[in-house]
Amino acid sequence: MKRIIAAAACLSLLVVGVAFAAVGGGDVTIKYKKGQVVFSHDNHVGMGLECTKCHDKPFTDSKSHKTVTMKQMQKGASCGACHNGKTAFTVKGNCKNCHK
Ligand code: HEC
Ligand code: HEC
Ligand code: HEC
Repeated sequence: MKRIIAAAACLSLLVVGVAFAAVGGGDVTIKYKKGQVVFSHDNHVGMGLECTKCHDKPFTDSKSHKTVTMKQMQKGASCGACHNGKTAFTVKGNCKNCHK
């Protein structure tokens, strides 16, 4: 019994440790042919956006990332769901905000 309790305590510490390490998925690097964009969970979750605003649609995780073009984003795909000039700065400009 003691052993089970100790194991459970270790496990919960581990989970808490991961939770404190980064909000949600942390910084996620999205690579494309000629560059990459870093998405910050800290910034997005920190401004009060709930996980469900982005998960499971349009995003799941890096492994099952669905590559989109800027053209598709301008029509509302991926980041463009919010970065449309209404909810957040538009993907029709502001390139440097995302492409550092
Ligand atoms: C504003 C949008 C947004 C919000 C809000 C958001 N996420 Fe994410 N999340 C993303 C994106 C973008 C990715 C990368 C997915 C991809 O590459 O297709 C991601 C990936 C992840 C991953 C996988 C990380 C990896 O490297 O594959 C986890 C875990 C995750 N998110 C958890 C969360 C949790 C938990 C919350 C709420 C606390 C949250 N996310 C809120 C956009 C968001
Ligand atoms: C809100 C953030 C954001 C803004 C603003 C943004 N991009 Fe992007 N861009 C991305 C992300 C994320 C990807 C990678 C998409 C993927 O691979 O799924 C990308 C991919 C690209 C690509 C490769 C795909 C393609 O369409 O050929 C190019 C080129 C590009 N961006 C150029 C630009 C230019 C030029 C601007 C400004 C007019 C811009 N981006 C504005 C986030 C942004
Ligand atoms: C659920 C809505 C939502 C989605 C989806 C979303 N964002 Fe944002 N993002 C926001 C809001 C709201 C802001 C803050 C308002 C503003 O700056 O116009 C913001 C701010 C930002 C900023 C400036 C703050 C910072 O983190 O440096 C960047 C860069 C950014 N987003 C990149 C992205 C990229 C890249 C994606 C796609 C992978 C994405 N966002 C998807 C809502 C979203």
